[in-house]
Amino acid sequence: MKTEHAFFERLANLGQGNWDVKLQPHMVPGQMDLASYTARVYLVDTSTGWTAAGAIQPSGFAGVVKAQRNAGLSVDLVMDMAGQAISRLGREQPGADAPEVAQAIQLTAAALASTQTFKTVQPSGLDGHWIYMAYRLLDASTICRPGFFRTGAPGFAEPAAITHYVRQVVAHDLGSPKSTMIITVGNTKGGVGKTTIALNLAIARALQGRDVWLIDGDRQGTAQTAITIRAENGKQPAISCAHYPDGATLRAQVQQTGPKFQDIVIDAGGRDSTALRAALILSDVLVIPFAPRSLDVWALNDINNLVQEARAVRDGLRVVAMLNNADPQGHDNADAAAAVADFPGMEYVETPIRRRKPIANAAGQGMSVLEYSPKDQKSIDEVTALVNAVFMSN
Ligand SMILES: Nc1ncnc2c1ncn2[C@@H]1O[C@H](COP(=O)(O)OP(=O)(O)O)[C@@H](O)[C@H]1O
Ligand SMILES: [Mg+2]
Repeated sequence: MKTEHAFFERLANLGQGNWDVKLQPHMVPGQMDLASYTARVYLVDTSTGWTAAGAIQPSGFAGVVKAQRNAGLSVDLVMDMAGQAISRLGREQPGADAPEVAQAIQLTAAALASTQTFKTVQPSGLDGHWIYMAYRLLDASTICRPGFFRTGAPGFAEPAAITHYVRQVVAHDLGSPKSTMIITVGNTKGGVGKTTIALNLAIARALQGRDVWLIDGDRQGTAQTAITIRAENGKQPAISCAHYPDGATLRAQVQQTGPKFQDIVIDAGGRDSTALRAALILSDVLVIPFAPRSLDVWALNDINNLVQEARAVRDGLRVVAMLNNADPQGHDNADAAAAVADFPGMEYVETPIRRRKPIANAAGQGMSVLEYSPKDQKSIDEVTALVNAVFMSN
């Protein structure tokens, strides 16, 4: 026990002086100025759900790795010690400002350094977040997994975003039987922003490192055109895209090729098309964009009828309605929320997406507003909230 403690101290000390650590006092997003910090690190114990966060300014990164080697510490040992620290903290559940948490952040940083995660992941444009999660095994031993995810958030990520990310990683690691997530963006009404939202969802997931397939199910092929422009501009990440306006073809292709992808986003087109019906049978989630004007709200009736048909032949279709092209404020938004509440089994996304030029401009270039320049933080926050709401239960 004493040896273990000494070892722990020695390891934690490796980073000191090289890392300036700032801890998040509690898991509430956005309350710290992290402008000068290059890395945000989260400690997650998957068995208790305990999470702590710290921002670190790693200087002398190479020096830490060298010191580890000189001290005869292997990568496995460093990871193991970081994992033990996280799982011990998870059991004790201390506040994020406890000294042991600072030490565990140091250890985690050492582990990220020794696994070369800092080096291999080069966040460009968007802020990056390092997650270090510990799994407790049945024999009480612990294994760890470093991860990296991107959000547009300037400070610490929302706790919900972290939970969501961790769930995905766990599902991936534990070999979830069906890991492909199929999202349809649909509304029988045109011009409500289906293509815009589908593009943003698909690209947001690709930016998180997911392997995404965007399917354009609309005869007009607007999503496909946007992705072609993206490809011509050489914009990364490249998005795989196919155009299947015919329902039977869409179904066959998703069944055959779908499992190769982690996420499939279907832009289901405007009218009550065969593609929309096929997509509703295949999807995990239907996202319904609608505008906060009474006619559009009534149009929810139409799509809801199709949802009822689909639910009669299948289980588990989640339906999420969201306001797009919303007005700055006023009663319309609240009225829309109330209208959605009238449909049983339809969720409402609390953060509407407002009518914003950068969102339209980005989509015209085959881009998400998350990667659009000049950066528009309000658009980014709204789209990020939608992405979190849609993929949360994955
Ligand atoms: N949040 C938004 N802010 C600004 N313009 C938007 C927004 N959402 C959609 N638009 C614009 O509204 C129009 C219709 O959107 P689109 O995605 O093509 O709808 P749909 O696919 O449902 O027909 C397009 O010109 C698009 O640029
Ligand atoms: Mg469209």
